[in-house]
Amino acid sequence: RMRSSPSSSAAMASSFALRRLHMRGKGGLCKCLQKGRCGSLHAVQAERLEQAQRSILISCYSRPTEKKFLKYLSRHGDVKKYFFYESYGVYAVVEFANRDGVASLLEEAVIPSVSNEALVPFKSRLLSLKNLSSVDSNHFKHFECVKIVTNKHSWGTVSTLQVVSLTETYQLTDENIRLRFLVCSLLQDIAAAYFPECTIKPFGSSVNGFGKLGCDLDMILDLDGISGGKPKSVLSLEFQLKRANSERAVTQSILSVIGECVDQFGPGCVGVQKILNARCPLLRFAHQPSGFQCDLTASNRVAIKSTELLYLYGELDPRVRSLVFTVRCWARTHGITSGIPGAWITNFSLTIMVLFFLQKRSPPIIPTLDHLAELAGSADKCVIEGNDCTFVIDISKIQLQSNTETLEHLLREFFEFYATFAFSKMSINIRKGKEQNKPEVAPLHIQNPFETSLNISKNVNATQLDRFVALCQESLWLLQQSGTNTPRVGNRSNTATPWGLATLLLPSQVAGVKSRKKRRREPASERIKGLLDSLKNNSQPKKS
Ligand code: GTP
Ligand code: MG
Repeated sequence: RMRSSPSSSAAMASSFALRRLHMRGKGGLCKCLQKGRCGSLHAVQAERLEQAQRSILISCYSRPTEKKFLKYLSRHGDVKKYFFYESYGVYAVVEFANRDGVASLLEEAVIPSVSNEALVPFKSRLLSLKNLSSVDSNHFKHFECVKIVTNKHSWGTVSTLQVVSLTETYQLTDENIRLRFLVCSLLQDIAAAYFPECTIKPFGSSVNGFGKLGCDLDMILDLDGISGGKPKSVLSLEFQLKRANSERAVTQSILSVIGECVDQFGPGCVGVQKILNARCPLLRFAHQPSGFQCDLTASNRVAIKSTELLYLYGELDPRVRSLVFTVRCWARTHGITSGIPGAWITNFSLTIMVLFFLQKRSPPIIPTLDHLAELAGSADKCVIEGNDCTFVIDISKIQLQSNTETLEHLLREFFEFYATFAFSKMSINIRKGKEQNKPEVAPLHIQNPFETSLNISKNVNATQLDRFVALCQESLWLLQQSGTNTPRVGNRSNTATPWGLATLLLPSQVAGVKSRKKRRREPASERIKGLLDSLKNNSQPKKS
Protein backbone atom coordinates (compact mmCIF):
# COMPACT_ATOMS: atom_id res chain seq x y z
CA ARG A 1 0.00 0.00 0.00
CA MET A 2 1.36 3.39 -0.92
CA ARG A 3 1.41 6.11 1.65
CA SER A 4 2.34 9.71 1.54
CA SER A 5 6.07 9.57 1.89
CA PRO A 6 7.36 12.08 4.37
CA SER A 7 10.90 13.14 3.78
CA SER A 8 11.58 12.59 7.47
CA SER A 9 14.27 10.15 8.37
CA ALA A 10 11.92 8.37 10.77
CA ALA A 11 10.91 5.83 8.17
CA MET A 12 14.51 4.93 7.61
CA ALA A 13 15.06 4.79 11.32
CA SER A 14 12.27 2.37 11.98
CA SER A 15 13.39 0.02 9.25
CA PHE A 16 16.93 0.32 10.56
CA ALA A 17 15.71 -0.50 14.05
CA LEU A 18 14.11 -3.66 12.75
CA ARG A 19 17.20 -4.68 10.83
CA ARG A 20 19.19 -4.04 13.98
CA LEU A 21 17.54 -6.93 15.81
CA HIS A 22 20.34 -9.04 17.11
CA MET A 23 18.50 -12.23 17.82
CA ARG A 24 20.44 -15.39 17.40
CA GLY A 25 19.29 -18.88 16.60
CA LYS A 26 17.29 -20.42 13.83
CA GLY A 27 14.12 -19.15 12.24
CA GLY A 28 12.68 -15.71 12.62
CA LEU A 29 9.70 -13.63 13.41
CA CYS A 30 6.77 -13.96 11.09
CA LYS A 31 6.83 -11.41 8.29
CA CYS A 32 4.13 -9.27 9.80
CA LEU A 33 6.02 -9.02 13.10
CA GLN A 34 9.25 -8.19 11.32
CA LYS A 35 7.52 -5.39 9.55
CA GLY A 36 5.51 -4.51 12.63
CA ARG A 37 2.50 -4.36 10.31
CA CYS A 38 0.02 -7.04 10.98
CA GLY A 39 -2.59 -4.38 10.49
CA SER A 40 -3.93 -4.82 13.96
CA LEU A 41 -2.47 -5.05 17.39
CA HIS A 42 -4.68 -8.04 18.02
CA ALA A 43 -2.86 -10.15 15.42
CA VAL A 44 0.57 -9.10 16.69
CA GLN A 45 -0.45 -9.96 20.24
CA ALA A 46 -1.81 -13.38 19.31
CA GLU A 47 1.50 -14.34 17.74
CA ARG A 48 3.61 -12.94 20.56
CA LEU A 49 1.48 -14.70 23.20
CA GLU A 50 1.83 -18.01 21.39
CA GLN A 51 5.62 -17.51 21.17
CA ALA A 52 5.70 -16.78 24.89
CA GLN A 53 3.97 -20.04 25.70
CA ARG A 54 6.76 -21.93 23.96
CA SER A 55 9.39 -19.99 25.90
CA ILE A 56 11.14 -20.31 29.24
CA LEU A 57 13.16 -17.97 31.40
CA ILE A 58 16.41 -19.36 32.82
CA SER A 59 18.62 -17.85 35.47
CA CYS A 60 22.17 -18.88 34.60
CA TYR A 61 24.23 -19.24 37.75
CA SER A 62 27.40 -20.62 36.31
CA ARG A 63 27.58 -18.67 33.05
CA PRO A 64 27.78 -21.57 30.61
CA THR A 65 29.34 -21.08 27.23
CA GLU A 66 26.85 -20.42 24.51
CA LYS A 67 27.71 -23.67 22.74
CA LYS A 68 27.24 -25.81 25.84
CA PHE A 69 24.04 -24.05 26.69
CA LEU A 70 22.57 -24.69 23.26
CA LYS A 71 23.71 -28.27 23.18
CA TYR A 72 22.02 -28.91 26.50
CA LEU A 73 18.74 -27.28 25.48
CA SER A 74 18.67 -28.95 22.08
CA ARG A 75 18.44 -32.31 23.82
CA HIS A 76 14.92 -31.28 24.78
CA GLY A 77 13.73 -29.81 21.52
CA ASP A 78 14.42 -27.51 18.62
CA VAL A 79 15.50 -24.10 19.93
CA LYS A 80 14.05 -21.38 17.74
CA LYS A 81 15.39 -18.26 19.46
CA TYR A 82 17.38 -17.38 22.50
CA PHE A 83 19.10 -14.40 24.03
CA PHE A 84 20.84 -13.50 27.26
CA TYR A 85 20.34 -10.39 29.34
CA GLU A 86 21.56 -9.11 32.68
CA SER A 87 19.35 -8.10 35.59
CA TYR A 88 20.86 -8.93 38.99
CA GLY A 89 22.48 -11.95 37.35
CA VAL A 90 22.40 -13.39 33.88
CA TYR A 91 19.16 -14.69 32.44
CA ALA A 92 18.30 -16.40 29.18
CA VAL A 93 15.01 -16.32 27.29
CA VAL A 94 14.67 -19.48 25.23
CA GLU A 95 11.94 -20.10 22.68
CA PHE A 96 11.41 -23.70 21.62
CA ALA A 97 9.88 -24.55 18.25
CA ASN A 98 7.00 -26.21 20.07
CA ARG A 99 5.68 -26.79 23.55
CA ASP A 100 7.09 -30.31 23.77
CA GLY A 101 10.54 -28.82 24.24
CA VAL A 102 9.33 -26.89 27.26
CA ALA A 103 7.56 -29.95 28.67
CA SER A 104 10.66 -32.12 28.25
CA LEU A 105 12.88 -29.55 29.97
CA LEU A 106 10.43 -29.15 32.85
CA GLU A 107 10.32 -32.89 33.26
CA GLU A 108 14.05 -32.96 33.81
CA ALA A 109 14.04 -30.01 36.21
CA VAL A 110 14.05 -30.84 39.90
CA ILE A 111 12.82 -29.05 42.98
CA PRO A 112 16.05 -28.03 44.74
CA SER A 113 16.85 -29.16 48.21
CA VAL A 114 17.66 -26.40 50.66
CA SER A 115 18.61 -26.55 54.28
CA ASN A 116 17.03 -24.38 57.00
CA GLU A 117 14.22 -23.25 54.70
CA ALA A 118 11.10 -24.77 53.20
CA LEU A 119 10.05 -24.31 49.58
CA VAL A 120 6.64 -23.86 48.01
CA PRO A 121 6.65 -26.63 45.39
CA PHE A 122 5.28 -24.55 42.53
CA LYS A 123 6.72 -25.58 39.18
CA SER A 124 6.94 -22.70 36.77
CA ARG A 125 8.79 -21.87 33.54
CA LEU A 126 11.22 -19.71 35.51
CA LEU A 127 14.17 -22.02 36.05
CA SER A 128 17.73 -21.95 37.33
CA LEU A 129 20.57 -23.60 35.50
CA LYS A 130 23.34 -24.52 37.89
CA ASN A 131 25.66 -27.29 36.90
CA LEU A 132 26.67 -26.64 33.33
CA SER A 133 30.28 -26.15 34.35
CA SER A 134 32.37 -24.16 31.93
CA VAL A 135 35.63 -26.08 32.10
CA ASP A 136 36.25 -25.46 28.44
CA SER A 137 35.04 -21.90 28.58
CA ASN A 138 38.32 -20.55 27.27
CA HIS A 139 37.77 -22.29 23.98
CA PHE A 140 34.45 -20.64 23.23
CA LYS A 141 33.27 -17.13 22.98
CA HIS A 142 31.16 -16.18 25.95
CA PHE A 143 27.68 -15.03 25.13
CA GLU A 144 26.80 -11.40 24.86
CA CYS A 145 23.95 -9.93 26.85
CA VAL A 146 21.39 -7.74 25.16
CA LYS A 147 20.23 -4.59 26.85
CA ILE A 148 16.89 -5.15 28.50
CA VAL A 149 16.80 -2.34 31.02
CA THR A 150 18.18 1.12 30.77
CA ASN A 151 19.30 3.50 33.43
CA LYS A 152 16.28 5.69 33.95
CA HIS A 153 18.47 8.67 34.78
CA SER A 154 20.68 8.48 31.75
CA TRP A 155 19.14 11.34 29.84
CA GLY A 156 22.40 13.21 29.88
CA THR A 157 23.55 11.04 27.01
CA VAL A 158 20.63 12.25 24.94
CA SER A 159 22.31 15.56 24.43
CA THR A 160 24.13 14.26 21.38
CA LEU A 161 21.31 12.20 20.00
CA GLN A 162 19.13 13.27 17.18
CA VAL A 163 15.41 13.10 16.93
CA VAL A 164 15.28 9.81 15.10
CA SER A 165 18.09 8.08 16.89
CA LEU A 166 16.46 9.09 20.15
CA THR A 167 13.48 6.92 19.27
CA GLU A 168 15.68 4.21 17.94
CA THR A 169 17.90 4.10 21.00
CA TYR A 170 15.23 4.18 23.67
CA GLN A 171 12.25 2.41 22.11
CA LEU A 172 11.48 -1.12 23.23
CA THR A 173 13.61 -3.71 21.48
CA ASP A 174 12.27 -6.98 20.15
CA GLU A 175 13.94 -8.83 23.06
CA ASN A 176 12.37 -6.52 25.59
CA ILE A 177 8.92 -7.06 24.08
CA ARG A 178 9.46 -10.83 24.06
CA LEU A 179 10.36 -10.73 27.73
CA ARG A 180 7.21 -8.69 28.48
CA PHE A 181 5.03 -11.30 26.78
CA LEU A 182 6.88 -14.08 28.60
CA VAL A 183 6.23 -12.45 31.98
CA CYS A 184 2.50 -12.25 31.05
CA SER A 185 2.60 -15.92 30.10
CA LEU A 186 4.29 -16.92 33.39
CA LEU A 187 1.62 -15.04 35.34
CA GLN A 188 -1.09 -16.61 33.24
CA ASP A 189 0.12 -20.00 34.49
CA ILE A 190 -0.53 -18.80 38.04
CA ALA A 191 -3.95 -17.29 37.30
CA ALA A 192 -4.88 -20.45 35.39
CA ALA A 193 -4.96 -22.28 38.71
CA TYR A 194 -8.28 -20.47 39.25
CA PHE A 195 -9.35 -19.72 35.68
CA PRO A 196 -7.88 -22.26 33.23
CA GLU A 197 -9.23 -20.43 30.16
CA CYS A 198 -7.93 -17.00 31.13
CA THR A 199 -5.39 -14.99 29.15
CA ILE A 200 -2.99 -12.39 30.52
CA LYS A 201 -1.85 -9.93 27.91
CA PRO A 202 0.04 -6.65 27.90
CA PHE A 203 -1.51 -3.28 27.06
CA GLY A 204 -0.35 0.34 27.35
CA SER A 205 3.12 1.41 26.30
CA SER A 206 4.52 -2.17 26.27
CA VAL A 207 2.58 -2.73 23.04
CA ASN A 208 1.19 0.58 21.76
CA GLY A 209 4.42 1.41 19.93
CA PHE A 210 5.36 4.36 22.17
CA GLY A 211 7.07 2.45 24.99
CA LYS A 212 10.55 3.38 26.10
CA LEU A 213 13.03 0.99 27.73
CA GLY A 214 12.23 0.83 31.42
CA CYS A 215 8.50 1.57 31.10
CA ASP A 216 6.12 -0.35 33.33
CA LEU A 217 4.38 -3.54 32.22
CA ASP A 218 0.59 -3.06 32.17
CA MET A 219 -1.26 -6.36 31.97
CA ILE A 220 -4.87 -7.35 31.75
CA LEU A 221 -6.41 -10.56 32.98
CA ASP A 222 -8.84 -11.41 30.20
CA LEU A 223 -11.66 -13.73 31.25
CA ASP A 224 -13.81 -13.17 28.17
CA GLY A 225 -12.76 -16.51 26.71
CA ILE A 226 -14.64 -18.23 29.54
CA SER A 227 -18.03 -16.79 28.56
CA GLY A 228 -20.15 -18.22 25.75
CA GLY A 229 -20.72 -21.83 24.87
CA LYS A 230 -22.57 -23.99 22.42
CA PRO A 231 -25.96 -22.84 21.12
CA LYS A 232 -28.85 -23.74 23.38
CA SER A 233 -30.69 -26.98 22.77
CA VAL A 234 -34.19 -27.71 24.05
CA LEU A 235 -32.77 -28.75 27.36
CA SER A 236 -30.71 -26.04 28.87
CA LEU A 237 -27.83 -26.85 31.13
CA GLU A 238 -25.98 -24.04 32.77
CA PHE A 239 -23.25 -23.49 35.31
CA GLN A 240 -24.08 -22.41 38.81
CA LEU A 241 -22.08 -19.33 39.59
CA LYS A 242 -21.34 -17.14 42.58
CA ARG A 243 -22.90 -13.70 42.35
CA ALA A 244 -21.75 -10.26 43.43
CA ASN A 245 -23.35 -6.80 43.47
CA SER A 246 -21.42 -5.40 40.54
CA GLU A 247 -18.80 -6.13 37.89
CA ARG A 248 -16.42 -4.10 39.98
CA ALA A 249 -17.00 -6.31 43.03
CA VAL A 250 -16.30 -9.41 40.91
CA THR A 251 -13.09 -7.84 39.57
CA GLN A 252 -12.00 -6.93 43.08
CA SER A 253 -12.49 -10.45 44.41
CA ILE A 254 -10.74 -12.06 41.42
CA LEU A 255 -7.75 -9.73 41.72
CA SER A 256 -7.67 -10.26 45.45
CA VAL A 257 -7.24 -14.04 45.24
CA ILE A 258 -4.83 -13.83 42.33
CA GLY A 259 -2.88 -11.23 44.29
CA GLU A 260 -2.57 -13.69 47.18
CA CYS A 261 -1.46 -16.40 44.80
CA VAL A 262 1.14 -14.21 43.06
CA ASP A 263 2.41 -13.03 46.43
CA GLN A 264 2.73 -16.47 48.01
CA PHE A 265 3.54 -18.73 45.07
CA GLY A 266 4.65 -16.50 42.19
CA PRO A 267 8.38 -17.07 41.52
CA GLY A 268 10.23 -13.79 41.20
CA CYS A 269 7.18 -11.66 42.12
CA VAL A 270 7.87 -9.34 45.04
CA GLY A 271 6.21 -6.42 46.82
CA VAL A 272 2.67 -7.33 45.80
CA GLN A 273 0.22 -4.53 46.54
CA LYS A 274 -3.53 -4.91 46.08
CA ILE A 275 -4.90 -1.56 44.97
CA LEU A 276 -8.50 -2.68 44.80
CA ASN A 277 -10.29 0.58 45.61
CA ALA A 278 -8.83 2.54 42.68
CA ARG A 279 -11.19 3.56 39.85
CA CYS A 280 -9.66 0.65 38.01
CA PRO A 281 -8.71 -2.02 40.61
CA LEU A 282 -5.22 -3.45 40.11
CA LEU A 283 -2.36 -5.49 41.53
CA ARG A 284 1.06 -3.85 41.55
CA PHE A 285 4.29 -5.78 42.03
CA ALA A 286 7.84 -6.11 40.80
CA HIS A 287 8.93 -9.03 38.69
CA GLN A 288 12.54 -9.38 39.76
CA PRO A 289 14.05 -11.58 37.04
CA SER A 290 12.90 -9.19 34.32
CA GLY A 291 13.20 -6.01 36.35
CA PHE A 292 9.70 -4.94 35.25
CA GLN A 293 7.34 -2.98 37.45
CA CYS A 294 4.00 -4.69 36.82
CA ASP A 295 0.38 -3.55 37.02
CA LEU A 296 -2.24 -6.26 36.56
CA THR A 297 -5.86 -5.24 35.98
CA ALA A 298 -8.95 -7.16 34.95
CA SER A 299 -12.07 -6.09 33.01
CA ASN A 300 -10.33 -3.05 31.58
CA ARG A 301 -11.44 -3.46 28.01
CA VAL A 302 -11.57 0.27 27.27
CA ALA A 303 -7.85 0.50 28.05
CA ILE A 304 -7.21 -2.31 25.55
CA LYS A 305 -9.19 -0.39 22.95
CA SER A 306 -7.20 2.80 23.71
CA THR A 307 -4.00 0.80 23.27
CA GLU A 308 -5.23 -0.52 19.90
CA LEU A 309 -6.09 3.01 18.81
CA LEU A 310 -2.68 4.43 19.74
CA TYR A 311 -1.00 1.51 17.98
CA LEU A 312 -3.06 2.15 14.86
CA TYR A 313 -2.16 5.85 14.81
CA GLY A 314 1.52 4.94 15.28
CA GLU A 315 1.35 2.56 12.32
CA LEU A 316 -0.17 5.15 9.98
CA ASP A 317 2.88 7.36 9.57
CA PRO A 318 6.41 6.95 11.01
CA ARG A 319 6.42 10.58 12.13
CA VAL A 320 3.69 9.82 14.66
CA ARG A 321 5.87 7.47 16.72
CA SER A 322 8.96 9.63 16.48
CA LEU A 323 7.13 12.78 17.52
CA VAL A 324 5.25 11.10 20.38
CA PHE A 325 8.45 9.47 21.54
CA THR A 326 10.44 12.69 21.43
CA VAL A 327 7.75 14.65 23.25
CA ARG A 328 7.48 11.92 25.90
CA CYS A 329 11.26 12.02 26.46
CA TRP A 330 11.27 15.81 26.53
CA ALA A 331 8.42 15.84 29.06
CA ARG A 332 10.09 13.27 31.29
CA THR A 333 13.43 15.07 31.24
CA HIS A 334 11.77 18.23 32.51
CA GLY A 335 9.51 16.61 35.09
CA ILE A 336 6.33 17.34 33.13
CA THR A 337 5.51 13.65 33.49
CA SER A 338 6.51 11.49 36.43
CA GLY A 339 6.64 7.85 37.47
CA ILE A 340 4.70 8.77 40.60
CA PRO A 341 0.93 9.38 40.35
CA GLY A 342 -0.08 12.98 41.06
CA ALA A 343 -1.11 16.24 39.40
CA TRP A 344 1.31 15.68 36.51
CA ILE A 345 0.31 15.22 32.89
CA THR A 346 0.40 11.48 32.13
CA ASN A 347 2.08 9.92 29.13
CA PHE A 348 -1.35 8.87 27.90
CA SER A 349 -2.63 12.48 27.98
CA LEU A 350 0.56 13.72 26.35
CA THR A 351 0.21 11.18 23.55
CA ILE A 352 -3.37 12.29 22.89
CA MET A 353 -2.11 15.90 22.76
CA VAL A 354 0.45 14.97 20.10
CA LEU A 355 -2.20 13.08 18.09
CA PHE A 356 -4.53 16.07 18.30
CA PHE A 357 -1.77 18.37 17.08
CA LEU A 358 -1.10 16.04 14.12
CA GLN A 359 -4.82 16.06 13.26
CA LYS A 360 -4.68 19.86 13.20
CA ARG A 361 -1.88 20.11 10.63
CA SER A 362 -2.76 21.34 7.21
CA PRO A 363 -3.23 18.91 5.56
CA PRO A 364 -3.79 16.62 8.57
CA ILE A 365 -1.17 13.91 9.11
CA ILE A 366 -3.62 11.54 10.80
CA PRO A 367 -7.44 11.28 10.57
CA THR A 368 -9.91 11.98 13.35
CA LEU A 369 -11.33 9.17 15.45
CA ASP A 370 -14.78 9.94 14.04
CA HIS A 371 -13.39 9.29 10.57
CA LEU A 372 -11.84 5.99 11.72
CA ALA A 373 -15.27 5.06 13.13
CA GLU A 374 -16.93 5.86 9.78
CA LEU A 375 -14.53 3.50 8.00
CA ALA A 376 -15.31 0.61 10.38
CA GLY A 377 -16.93 -2.56 9.08
CA SER A 378 -19.37 -4.76 10.96
CA ALA A 379 -16.52 -6.90 12.37
CA ASP A 380 -15.00 -3.80 13.96
CA LYS A 381 -18.14 -3.03 15.98
CA CYS A 382 -17.29 -2.70 19.66
CA VAL A 383 -19.47 -1.38 22.46
CA ILE A 384 -18.08 -1.52 26.00
CA GLU A 385 -20.41 -0.72 28.87
CA GLY A 386 -22.56 1.44 26.62
CA ASN A 387 -19.58 3.29 25.10
CA ASP A 388 -19.14 3.01 21.36
CA CYS A 389 -15.47 2.07 20.89
CA THR A 390 -15.80 1.18 17.21
CA PHE A 391 -13.09 2.17 14.75
CA VAL A 392 -11.57 0.60 11.67
CA ILE A 393 -8.95 -2.07 12.35
CA ASP A 394 -7.87 -2.70 8.75
CA ILE A 395 -5.15 -0.13 8.17
CA SER A 396 -5.39 -0.48 4.37
CA LYS A 397 -8.82 1.17 4.42
CA ILE A 398 -7.35 4.41 5.73
CA GLN A 399 -6.37 7.00 3.13
CA LEU A 400 -3.84 9.54 4.29
CA GLN A 401 -3.41 13.04 2.96
CA SER A 402 -0.13 14.13 1.52
CA ASN A 403 1.69 16.09 4.18
CA THR A 404 5.49 16.31 3.85
CA GLU A 405 6.44 18.31 6.92
CA THR A 406 9.69 17.24 8.54
CA LEU A 407 9.94 16.00 12.10
CA GLU A 408 11.97 19.00 13.23
CA HIS A 409 9.40 21.34 11.79
CA LEU A 410 6.62 19.38 13.48
CA LEU A 411 8.40 19.48 16.82
CA ARG A 412 8.79 23.24 16.63
CA GLU A 413 5.16 23.62 15.57
CA PHE A 414 4.08 21.34 18.42
CA PHE A 415 5.71 23.68 20.92
CA GLU A 416 4.19 26.70 19.22
CA PHE A 417 0.75 25.08 19.09
CA TYR A 418 0.64 24.36 22.81
CA ALA A 419 2.51 27.50 23.84
CA THR A 420 -0.49 29.44 22.54
CA PHE A 421 -3.38 26.98 22.96
CA ALA A 422 -6.52 28.36 24.65
CA PHE A 423 -6.43 25.88 27.52
CA SER A 424 -8.70 28.06 29.66
CA LYS A 425 -11.67 27.71 27.29
CA MET A 426 -11.06 24.76 25.04
CA SER A 427 -11.00 21.00 25.33
CA ILE A 428 -8.73 18.73 23.26
CA ASN A 429 -10.80 16.28 21.27
CA ILE A 430 -9.29 13.65 18.95
CA ARG A 431 -12.75 12.36 18.02
CA LYS A 432 -13.53 15.56 16.18
CA GLY A 433 -9.96 16.69 15.52
CA LYS A 434 -11.06 20.15 16.64
CA GLU A 435 -10.96 21.89 19.98
CA GLN A 436 -14.37 22.05 21.67
CA ASN A 437 -15.70 24.33 24.38
CA LYS A 438 -14.79 22.91 27.76
CA PRO A 439 -17.77 21.06 29.23
CA GLU A 440 -16.49 21.44 32.80
CA VAL A 441 -14.01 23.44 34.80
CA ALA A 442 -10.56 21.85 34.85
CA PRO A 443 -7.20 23.43 34.01
CA LEU A 444 -6.58 20.86 31.28
CA HIS A 445 -9.46 19.15 29.52
CA ILE A 446 -8.76 16.24 27.16
CA GLN A 447 -11.80 14.25 26.20
CA ASN A 448 -11.52 10.54 26.86
CA PRO A 449 -11.71 9.11 23.31
CA PHE A 450 -14.10 6.31 24.26
CA GLU A 451 -15.78 7.37 27.48
CA THR A 452 -16.54 10.76 26.02
CA SER A 453 -18.05 12.33 29.12
CA LEU A 454 -14.73 11.89 30.96
CA ASN A 455 -11.63 14.06 31.06
CA ILE A 456 -8.44 11.97 30.94
CA SER A 457 -6.40 14.82 32.45
CA LYS A 458 -8.70 15.56 35.38
CA ASN A 459 -5.76 15.07 37.74
CA VAL A 460 -3.71 17.92 36.24
CA ASN A 461 -3.61 21.12 38.31
CA ALA A 462 -3.04 24.68 37.10
CA THR A 463 0.60 24.71 38.25
CA GLN A 464 1.47 21.67 36.17
CA LEU A 465 -0.34 23.02 33.12
CA ASP A 466 1.48 26.36 33.48
CA ARG A 467 4.80 24.52 33.65
CA PHE A 468 3.93 22.64 30.47
CA VAL A 469 3.00 25.83 28.61
CA ALA A 470 6.10 27.66 29.87
CA LEU A 471 8.33 24.79 28.76
CA CYS A 472 6.70 24.78 25.33
CA GLN A 473 7.46 28.50 25.04
CA GLU A 474 11.00 28.02 26.25
CA SER A 475 11.68 25.09 23.92
CA LEU A 476 10.26 27.02 20.99
CA TRP A 477 12.54 29.88 21.84
CA LEU A 478 15.56 27.58 22.03
CA LEU A 479 14.75 26.03 18.66
CA GLN A 480 14.36 29.46 17.11
CA GLN A 481 17.71 30.53 18.55
CA SER A 482 19.41 27.44 17.24
CA GLY A 483 18.17 28.24 13.75
CA THR A 484 17.02 24.75 12.86
CA ASN A 485 13.46 25.75 12.39
CA THR A 486 13.37 26.01 8.63
CA PRO A 487 11.80 22.91 7.14
CA ARG A 488 13.75 21.77 4.14
CA VAL A 489 11.60 19.10 2.64
CA GLY A 490 13.53 16.26 1.08
CA ASN A 491 16.85 17.47 2.38
CA ARG A 492 18.29 14.53 4.29
CA SER A 493 21.14 16.41 5.81
CA ASN A 494 18.66 18.66 7.54
CA THR A 495 16.46 15.86 8.81
CA ALA A 496 19.46 13.92 10.02
CA THR A 497 20.98 16.72 12.04
CA PRO A 498 18.36 18.26 14.30
CA TRP A 499 21.02 19.36 16.72
CA GLY A 500 18.62 21.91 18.17
CA LEU A 501 16.76 19.02 19.76
CA ALA A 502 19.74 18.21 21.90
CA THR A 503 19.37 21.50 23.74
CA LEU A 504 15.76 20.64 24.60
CA LEU A 505 16.81 17.50 26.36
CA LEU A 506 19.40 19.13 28.55
CA PRO A 507 17.67 19.94 31.82
CA SER A 508 19.89 22.95 32.43
CA GLN A 509 18.71 24.67 29.28
CA VAL A 510 14.98 24.57 29.66
CA ALA A 511 14.74 24.30 33.40
CA GLY A 512 14.92 28.04 33.99
CA VAL A 513 11.32 28.59 33.02
CA LYS A 514 10.93 31.42 35.49
CA SER A 515 13.47 33.54 33.66
CA ARG A 516 11.75 32.95 30.33
CA LYS A 517 10.54 36.50 29.79
CA LYS A 518 13.92 37.93 30.58
CA ARG A 519 15.67 35.54 28.21
CA ARG A 520 13.30 36.31 25.39
CA ARG A 521 14.38 39.89 25.33
CA GLU A 522 18.05 39.02 25.46
CA PRO A 523 20.19 37.44 22.79
CA ALA A 524 21.20 33.85 23.49
CA SER A 525 23.76 33.68 26.23
CA GLU A 526 27.33 32.86 25.40
CA ARG A 527 26.96 29.62 27.33
CA ILE A 528 24.08 28.42 25.19
CA LYS A 529 25.81 29.56 22.02
CA GLY A 530 28.93 27.60 22.97
CA LEU A 531 26.85 24.57 23.74
CA LEU A 532 24.97 24.75 20.49
CA ASP A 533 28.17 25.15 18.53
CA SER A 534 29.66 22.10 20.19
CA LEU A 535 26.53 20.15 19.40
CA LYS A 536 26.59 21.35 15.83
CA ASN A 537 30.10 20.06 15.47
CA ASN A 538 29.15 16.82 17.11
CA SER A 539 25.86 16.09 15.43
CA GLN A 540 26.45 12.40 14.76
CA PRO A 541 24.40 10.24 17.12
CA LYS A 542 26.24 8.39 19.82
CA LYS A 543 24.73 5.14 20.88
CA SER A 544 24.81 4.24 24.52
P1 GTP B 1 3.87 4.70 30.49
O1 GTP B 1 3.91 5.98 31.22
O2 GTP B 1 5.05 4.48 29.62
O3 GTP B 1 3.55 3.54 31.37
O4 GTP B 1 2.64 4.89 29.43
P2 GTP B 1 1.31 4.07 29.29
O5 GTP B 1 0.70 4.46 27.99
O6 GTP B 1 1.55 2.61 29.52
O7 GTP B 1 0.42 4.65 30.46
P3 GTP B 1 -0.13 3.99 31.79
O8 GTP B 1 0.75 2.89 32.26
O9 GTP B 1 -0.41 5.12 32.73
O10 GTP B 1 -1.54 3.42 31.33
C1 GTP B 1 -1.66 2.25 30.56
C2 GTP B 1 -2.77 2.40 29.56
O11 GTP B 1 -4.00 2.61 30.26
C3 GTP B 1 -2.66 3.60 28.62
O12 GTP B 1 -1.87 3.35 27.49
C4 GTP B 1 -4.09 3.83 28.24
O13 GTP B 1 -4.48 2.93 27.24
C5 GTP B 1 -4.81 3.51 29.53
N1 GTP B 1 -5.01 4.72 30.34
C6 GTP B 1 -4.14 5.31 31.16
N2 GTP B 1 -4.67 6.40 31.73
C7 GTP B 1 -5.92 6.49 31.27
C8 GTP B 1 -6.99 7.40 31.48
O14 GTP B 1 -6.90 8.39 32.23
N3 GTP B 1 -8.14 7.14 30.82
C9 GTP B 1 -8.26 6.08 29.99
N4 GTP B 1 -9.40 5.88 29.37
N5 GTP B 1 -7.30 5.20 29.76
C10 GTP B 1 -6.13 5.41 30.38
MG1 MG C 1 2.31 1.86 31.32
